[in-house]
Amino acid sequence: MLVHGNKKKKLETETQKLNWTKNKKALEHRPKPHSIEAQNIPLIDLSPLLKHPDSLSGLVVEIGDACQNWGFFQVINHGVPSKCRQKVESAARKFFALPKEEKRKVSRDEGNPFGYYDSEHTKNVRDWKEVFDFAVQNPIIIPASHEPADMEMKELFNKWPESLPELREACDEHTAEMEKLAFKLLELIALSLGLPKDRLNGFFKDQTSRVRLNYYPPCPAPHLTLGVGRHKDTGVLTILAQDNVAGLEVKRKTDGQWILVKPTPDAYIINVGDIFQVWSNDKYESVEHRVVVNSEKERFSIPYFLYPSHYTWVEPLEELINEQNPARFKRYNWGKFRATRNYELRGSTLLKLEWI
Ligand code: SIN
Ligand code: FE2
Repeated sequence: MLVHGNKKKKLETETQKLNWTKNKKALEHRPKPHSIEAQNIPLIDLSPLLKHPDSLSGLVVEIGDACQNWGFFQVINHGVPSKCRQKVESAARKFFALPKEEKRKVSRDEGNPFGYYDSEHTKNVRDWKEVFDFAVQNPIIIPASHEPADMEMKELFNKWPESLPELREACDEHTAEMEKLAFKLLELIALSLGLPKDRLNGFFKDQTSRVRLNYYPPCPAPHLTLGVGRHKDTGVLTILAQDNVAGLEVKRKTDGQWILVKPTPDAYIINVGDIFQVWSNDKYESVEHRVVVNSEKERFSIPYFLYPSHYTWVEPLEELINEQNPARFKRYNWGKFRATRNYELRGSTLLKLEWI
């Protein structure tokens, strides 16, 4: 009897332990109540690019500091016409307002990751959002297999809704602007690392960049879920257009606090991704972020992800390593990484980067 009783008790304790671990894991994906008001991450005025293209040193220092201290910043006077931005934002709203059957006509499928989907997961937990993805280069040429040495390629095409032709037009126009801005930023960041401004341009001949339209519907229980769970971006850099509803939270490097980013009208939010962390040999860290939802308002955002050619080997730039500062990352193949999400490829246990 006694033995039986002990066994039962042990079993109960084990179950409790298991539930506790499960809860802890689930809680990690819920926003903790935070008292921090929406704040501003560094705000950088890009007007010197137009007004004083020959004396950019002040701007370069500002960008370098923001990359190093925050991994995130906002830009204003970036040269993207506000009409172009309004057009894409309004087309995105119209798309997500379409009936589900209509949106599902352009659903992504097994063989093609581009298109619409109404449920995404970050680290196996469902995010509170709907998404529409498209590639910047169309058709998209990607390796047919996961072997970097295998040169066989397959073609994929973006899917656009026939009932909303303006979506494609607005996305094409806005993406062209994002591309211009991305390359300006790439050059400024290269300069901030002491490199020639065009040092990184060669990695993008067959770029695999993509754009996402995010829709976060109002959520009846915003304390129980997240729009996007915490993650780091895997690419080179991300340019984000968010509407005027706050939701993006950035993990402040100095104290690990989640900071809700206050929307600045017309600004774009920039963050450096894992590839910049590797290229810069850890100088510019890819910073964790997540999205909180709210019960009243819907929220829209449009990230542009700057990705290199699929055959790129990502490794610390040779100019930035030496005997005192040896390479901190093993090289990895971008195409293979994307295809397999084989996190081990980067060989970095040093930083324990979290991948989407
Ligand atoms: C993301 O980081 O995936 C989305 C950011 C946002 O919607 O603000
Ligand atoms: Fe992200």
